[in-house]
Amino acid sequence: MDLRVVVYALCLSLLLLLGLSHAEQVKFVDCGSSVGNVIEVDINPCPTQPCQLHKGQSYAVNVTFASGTDTRTSKAVVHGVIAGVPVPFAIPNDDGCKSGIQCPIQNQKTYSYVTQLPVKTEYPSIRLVVEWELRDDSSKDLFCIEFPVQIVN
Ligand SMILES: *[C@@H]1O[C@H](CO)[C@@H](O)[C@H](O)[C@H]1NC(C)=O
Repeated sequence: MDLRVVVYALCLSLLLLLGLSHAEQVKFVDCGSSVGNVIEVDINPCPTQPCQLHKGQSYAVNVTFASGTDTRTSKAVVHGVIAGVPVPFAIPNDDGCKSGIQCPIQNQKTYSYVTQLPVKTEYPSIRLVVEWELRDDSSKDLFCIEFPVQIVN
C-alpha cells in the first residue's frame, strides 16, 4: 500500500476515535474520601476544562471509585461552592443505590456512580466549584470530589 494512504487512514481513524470517545475525564480534587478511593471522574459532554455547563442542558456524571467500607445505603450530597461558600445543589435523585450502584456496597469493590446533572435556565452565568459527595450509612464519604465548572448560556 502507498504510504500516503496508510498515513491518511491513520489520521482518519484517530479523528474518528477522538470524535467517538464521549466520556471526558475531568480533573478533580479529592475533598476527603474517608471510606473510598476515587479512580476516575467523567462528565459528558465536557470537551474543554473547566466544563462549560449550558443552561437548559443535562450532563452525565460518572464517578468510578473503590469502596473502603461495607454499606447498605449511599446518599449523594451536592454543593455549588460560590466564592468559597457552599450552596446546596438539587439533583433529581440523591440515592446512590439508584444511580448505577448495586447496593449493598462491599468493601474493596469498585463501583461507578452514574447520574445526570441538569443545569436550570435560571442559574446565573458564573464560574463555581462543584462539590460532590456520596455518603455511606454513617454519613462518611465514599467519595468527595471537587471540580470547577462554568455556567454559560
Ligand atoms: C463509567 O466509567 C467507568 C470507568 O471509565 C466505565 O467502566 C463505565 O462503563 C462508565 N459507565 C457509564 C454508564 O458510562
